[in-house]
Amino acid sequence: MDPSREAPQDLSEDNPLWDLGSKRKGLTAVLLRGGGGRISPRIKVLPLGRELPAREGDALGDVLSRELGFELPCGGAGFCGGCSVRIIEGSVSEPSPEEVISGVLDRGMRLACRTRIEGDMVIELPELRPIAVVSGMMPKIRPDPTVNYLGGGSAQLGLAIDLGTTNIAGALLDLSTGETLSEGFVRNPQVSMGADIITRLERALRGGGEELRRLAMKGISDLIQKLSIQGEISSILIVGNSVMQALLLGLSVEGLSRAPFDPPLREWLICPAEELGFRWPRALAIIPPSIGGFAGSDALADVITTRLLGIRRPYLILDLGTNAQVILDTGSSVLVATAPAGSAFETSVFSGMGGLEGAVLEARLGDEGWSLRSSGRILGMAGSGLISAVAEMLRSGIIDESGRMRKDLGGRVTLLEDPKIEISQRDVREIQKGVASIYAAWRILVEEARVMPAAVVVAGTFGTFVSYRDALDIGLIPPVPEDGFISIGNAALSGAKSMLLSREAFELARSLLDDMIHVDLTGKHHFPDIFLEGLALRRRQPLSQLRDRLK
Ligand code: FES
Repeated sequence: MDPSREAPQDLSEDNPLWDLGSKRKGLTAVLLRGGGGRISPRIKVLPLGRELPAREGDALGDVLSRELGFELPCGGAGFCGGCSVRIIEGSVSEPSPEEVISGVLDRGMRLACRTRIEGDMVIELPELRPIAVVSGMMPKIRPDPTVNYLGGGSAQLGLAIDLGTTNIAGALLDLSTGETLSEGFVRNPQVSMGADIITRLERALRGGGEELRRLAMKGISDLIQKLSIQGEISSILIVGNSVMQALLLGLSVEGLSRAPFDPPLREWLICPAEELGFRWPRALAIIPPSIGGFAGSDALADVITTRLLGIRRPYLILDLGTNAQVILDTGSSVLVATAPAGSAFETSVFSGMGGLEGAVLEARLGDEGWSLRSSGRILGMAGSGLISAVAEMLRSGIIDESGRMRKDLGGRVTLLEDPKIEISQRDVREIQKGVASIYAAWRILVEEARVMPAAVVVAGTFGTFVSYRDALDIGLIPPVPEDGFISIGNAALSGAKSMLLSREAFELARSLLDDMIHVDLTGKHHFPDIFLEGLALRRRQPLSQLRDRLK
């Protein structure tokens, strides 16, 4: 048996094989100490966030090929250049003659097939395209007769941006007709400084704020290039969560680092776009305020979209991005909570990779075994793929409601042999935590408002691919009828577009801000109990029963 293949089975701290928290060259290294003190290097692969087992002296290309199905177009002969990767950190062999001749070194890359592993490493694969749902369901909006009613010169173009933790999506609008001229997205370059907002918050607190701001602007600038903007822009409206907003504006994130988690942007910011670094001299930048905690203006934009779409209230919005936002709109009040569930469905899981090209979006278990639906060649699992796999495992008895895996399976289930896609007992535990944090969020909002949602509106890229039955069976959503499960795509971008186009939407945003209340889950004494209850993978109580309890 190859011990390095078995390494990820048990990461518990009481497992003597593992030395968690060892530091080597700044990288938190997880080292397997095998017989005779041999050390097996670990290869961390960005942007997937996965760690691969390897042996000293292995060719990096062989490890990537074996573990991820990475292509070696010339079979590792060193002449095609198709296996180039970037070594971010770690010990590798000296460059080979093929690498010197090919010029790959000049681009800061190495040929994986000619690079020998000498220790722990962090590497980056060539650009993987994000799977992002750019468009959302767009309300029927009549553009304001006063084109540019927000000001910003006489140009007729507007730019709406959803500054997400993982992706930055944008739309170029003709403000006179309301037409969307182009839409697109780029990966948020801040990902290189941390996949989630907590890590970025820590980096900002340790002096990385300016670099994070620069990266946010770089991402927006890349997006602008992608949108092929011809001519002057009159107004740019940007929504995002509280951390993204603060980092973009270079505001202090101190208040977001401890209870009661006060975001720094509490008023509308309307200023010349040049002040933020945009090149259009007459354009205005408009940034709506945060709601509270990590809930930013993207939550506001979500509600603008659902209100303008006329979805019958009360409803629950689950915006399942890297940072999940849970919103209960009762009509008279709008309660908002955030749940850091994204990493539980992405990087905390061994095969998890988030919404990137090559991610499995859906997993189904049939008589013939597992079938996986992915975008391109499979590299790992997206959040929706993990949710569907866990739901299938639950329905087929591979795991029980408590998440415990059948003993005879040895602590892991293989979904695909080549490349190896597995879900371990530990992965199931991580997914349970993600489900429980979203459950706790909506459950507490329902209790606070004493109102039951009649519908669940799912937004965000991740949410777009989650199926009703899977979400219901594992207890991610309350038991609403199937026709009350509505998927609306990128609601935050639709809301930003609406505000840019229509004075009515803008006024709705201003009045909604008076009704939106941030609920800090960490301040609720019964949060731990509800979270523990939410770890059980099962359909939640019928709302009528919960309603009786709330009376
Ligand atoms: S696989 Fe062709 S150069 Fe490495």
